[in-house]
Amino acid sequence: MNLPEKARKLDEADELRGKRAAFVLDDDTVYLDGNSLGALPTTVPGRMADVVAREWGRLRIRSWTESGWWTAPERIGDRIAPLVGAAPGQIVVGDSTSVNVFKALVGAVRMAGAERDEIVVDATTFPTDGYIAESAARMTGRRLVAVEPRELRSALGPRTAVALVNHVDYRSGRLHDLPGVTASAHAAGALVVWDLCHSAGALPVGLDAHGVDLAVGCTYKYLNGGPGSPAFLYVRRDLQAGFDSPLPGWNSHRDPFGMSPRYEAADGAPRGRVGTPDILSMLALEAALEVWDEVPIEAVRDKSLALTDFFLECVAAYVPAGRVESITPARHEERGSQVALRRADAGEVMGSLIARGVVGDFRQPDVLRFGFTPLYVSFADVERAARVLAEVISTR
Ligand SMILES: Cc1ncc(COP(=O)(O)O)c(C=O)c1O
Repeated sequence: MNLPEKARKLDEADELRGKRAAFVLDDDTVYLDGNSLGALPTTVPGRMADVVAREWGRLRIRSWTESGWWTAPERIGDRIAPLVGAAPGQIVVGDSTSVNVFKALVGAVRMAGAERDEIVVDATTFPTDGYIAESAARMTGRRLVAVEPRELRSALGPRTAVALVNHVDYRSGRLHDLPGVTASAHAAGALVVWDLCHSAGALPVGLDAHGVDLAVGCTYKYLNGGPGSPAFLYVRRDLQAGFDSPLPGWNSHRDPFGMSPRYEAADGAPRGRVGTPDILSMLALEAALEVWDEVPIEAVRDKSLALTDFFLECVAAYVPAGRVESITPARHEERGSQVALRRADAGEVMGSLIARGVVGDFRQPDVLRFGFTPLYVSFADVERAARVLAEVISTR
């Protein structure tokens, strides 16, 4: 069977194929950048028009209560919860991932106790996590220890307060061992904060099942919340009472409208809030999450692996040997939902791909990154992307 025919068969058998209609996509573009900015769900524009014209335009201040604006951070957190394996009441939505990394790390250091004087971070982390970990270490008087992910488990010990780890590496697409690293952290008496930016909405995370302490993630990638949509913070239920936020804004007060000069932290997930939520982005995210109704995350994972397998198969068939090198692990247990290919002229190649309607992205210095969002990427898209990649490379 040739590859276009195989793609057709795979698309016919795809249980999620009906979901593609829930997104605004153009037929002449293959969109493989949903690991950077998810496509627009069709539920969003109408909902936003209503939020702006009626809730803001006509109800104005009344919407904080009558339209449920005030409680949106927890409500939307509960909507994300099943996608990352969390029971309700543990996730709050708001701020950026960077800000939530700060809250989680400093909160974890405070819970870990004074004798634990190290913050461990994975050396390959997305830069913002590293920058914030360095500042958090300076502020809390801890030492920052950066280690390669494969050495993480052995780096955790009696001095570790907390480890900050990316679930999926943004550059290579490598999936790190969340259950194993979490168990090692706990065996060492340490806490762990997971950055789920590249796994939330792409694969089962199992936060509760694996006893994760704290986690953060963005919503504009696989959750399709829109550019700059608010991030989320998970604090495991039994840690919430001890979570002492370094950003105790009035929204996280037990009685925000009591306007007390003395801070008293709210119970539960709202303790992770800071200031007034960005309602427009937040409600766009809420509308975007409707596409997940009745979509099991396990089905998303199955399709994601099938898409990335098929892409690697098509690349191997179409691109002559030695012209690109995959830095994405071949083993399913170690692969997220993207494929990263290395080539010295990756920047120029990606420019040509985009000009020909195949949109991935380029990461310095030499990585072509292709993200596969199972809700809207088809196997025909995958075959076309690999074919166009081979054509571009053959001209260089
Ligand atoms: C793993 C990871 N962490 C953090 C961020 C940045 O998050 P934010 O810009 O929401 O602070 C990104 C953005 O792509 C990311 O990939």
